[in-house]
Amino acid sequence: MCGIIAYVGPRPCAQLLIDGLRKLEYRGYDSAGVAVHDGSSIVVRRAAGKLSTLQDLVDREPVAGTVGIGHTRWATHGPPSERNAHPHVAGRVAVVHNGIIENHVELKQRLEAQGRVFTSDTDTEIVAHLVDMAMARGLVLVEAVRDALRELRGAYAIAVLAKDDPETIVVAKYASPLVVAIADGAVLAASDVPAILAHTREVLFLEDGEMATLTRAGAKLETVAGEAVERAPTTIRWSLVQAERGGFKHFMLKEIHEQPRAIEDTLRGRVQLESGTCNADEIGISEQDANAVQRVVLLACGTSFHAAMYGRYLLEQLARVPAVVELASEFRYREPVIAKGDLVIAVSQSGETADTLAALKEAKRHGARVLAVVNVQGSAIARAADGVLYTHAGPEIGVASTKCFTAQLAAMALVAIHMGRARNALTAERATALLGELVKVPEKMRHALEQDASVQLIARDLVSSQNALFLGRGVSCPVALEGALKLKEISYVHAEGYAGGEMKHGPLALVDRTMPVVCLLPDDPSLEKMLSNVQEVRARDGRVLAVVNDAHTAASLAQWTITVPRTEPEFSPLITTIPLQLLSYHVADQRGTDVDQPRNLAKTVTVE
Ligand code: F6R
Repeated sequence: MCGIIAYVGPRPCAQLLIDGLRKLEYRGYDSAGVAVHDGSSIVVRRAAGKLSTLQDLVDREPVAGTVGIGHTRWATHGPPSERNAHPHVAGRVAVVHNGIIENHVELKQRLEAQGRVFTSDTDTEIVAHLVDMAMARGLVLVEAVRDALRELRGAYAIAVLAKDDPETIVVAKYASPLVVAIADGAVLAASDVPAILAHTREVLFLEDGEMATLTRAGAKLETVAGEAVERAPTTIRWSLVQAERGGFKHFMLKEIHEQPRAIEDTLRGRVQLESGTCNADEIGISEQDANAVQRVVLLACGTSFHAAMYGRYLLEQLARVPAVVELASEFRYREPVIAKGDLVIAVSQSGETADTLAALKEAKRHGARVLAVVNVQGSAIARAADGVLYTHAGPEIGVASTKCFTAQLAAMALVAIHMGRARNALTAERATALLGELVKVPEKMRHALEQDASVQLIARDLVSSQNALFLGRGVSCPVALEGALKLKEISYVHAEGYAGGEMKHGPLALVDRTMPVVCLLPDDPSLEKMLSNVQEVRARDGRVLAVVNDAHTAASLAQWTITVPRTEPEFSPLITTIPLQLLSYHVADQRGTDVDQPRNLAKTVTVE
């Protein structure tokens, strides 16, 4: 979703801002712009489309100045176009904004009645007008921003630059992420850490209702209400190199191949093989709390929802605790029944998804204890939860989640085993055996990745298919849903995932010789039933791609077979997911889509 960068320092900043925005491209965007103070006025350059168009514009029409703001926009109010691109200028003020101003209609009507003329369809322009009007009344920039913020309802991260104050940028946030960083005599702010990693790894995360005044002397943090804020910096573990493509054609392909390491990092220091236990401090739930839980409620969206589904299977199976999984976007608007003994687990790679954050807060409001499973350090969901289990997948740049998904699966496995032990649902022997196998999974994932070339060939056969079905049972059901989601989001092929048992209840009607059906057939107790589903598909001439542990399984039925290493049935999703990710990747690549930044999608979904 939209990205923000701001810079106050000694260096000419137009290129620096564009370079920072480039690190945010993965969030998804459709236009971009910068505003730089050249010492006497604010110069704006904006362009619809990719950053390369903005770059060409700035190359043709350079901007001088060492104080500036930049933005990549993902359209919410008004179509993607130059006039709707940020920064938005009103009078002496330029603003970039992430989020949605919910009361923009009434504010705009009021401002228009006061003679203000709008030049865009955005809600953001209102902020520029409000700040400009406050400055016209004599307020200095920081006070004018404070004044404007009091009028706004909704979500925002903003950075504001004023003609009358060439050395200052004011930033503020509510329900949209914003970090501030101090590096080499410069002060930066950004919506997302990768934008500033080239400058420093020490960042200050702003909390909701806080603002900061950035000058070359430093960053002054305070609340919108005017109280001073002292904040110790957080050191970001991610390195810049991790956020580069490293020789792969796309970030997504690199990230698929990084999965064994991501799982090793997620398991490291959390597993005690000898005793068959997990490190409770690292998991974020004490043994006592795990024992007292009456029910687990898992909340998530999209791919993370599929990981949460897997978590539900494992929690029931290994910890014998009732578990439900909920789409965060639905949960937050129902009147959910949350009981005292409920443990809520919010799963999110970005840690910023607006729906998941709101659902978490709703659960907390009802008195639930909340554990967050997130990948991004210091993210809003991590900060709002009572405990955090970080997936250590490293920065994920491809919009389609891959390594974060399998790291979430590994985290779910840890939570289930930890709770199973704490609740005596698992013996030490069984837990030791499970954990012993879990730590071997990364190596088996490496073997699964060796199928890359064969999957690429299969993708050639499928590249012109308009539809696909994915089937799995038990723990493979979320894998089927995830396989379908991956294919549709990056290749734009219509795909649906189903529990194998559901085929006869409708989807079978779709099957004919044009329909590829991807069947997950790892060796587990549901294999026989899944083979019956394969027969049903074959009987209707459907073409089957079988993901198996043994090349003989379904050999006479499947048109294509991918063999991946066997593991404990509970962990097969960590391995069977890999060929499905590779399939989506190669189909998309062969269809020539924008793999890392699929159309209409954003990496961090900070609006509902
Ligand atoms: C799909 C994908 C999305 C996200 C969803 C939730 O590949 O990545 O479906 O899973 O937008 O995002 P997070 O996990 O950041 O809460």
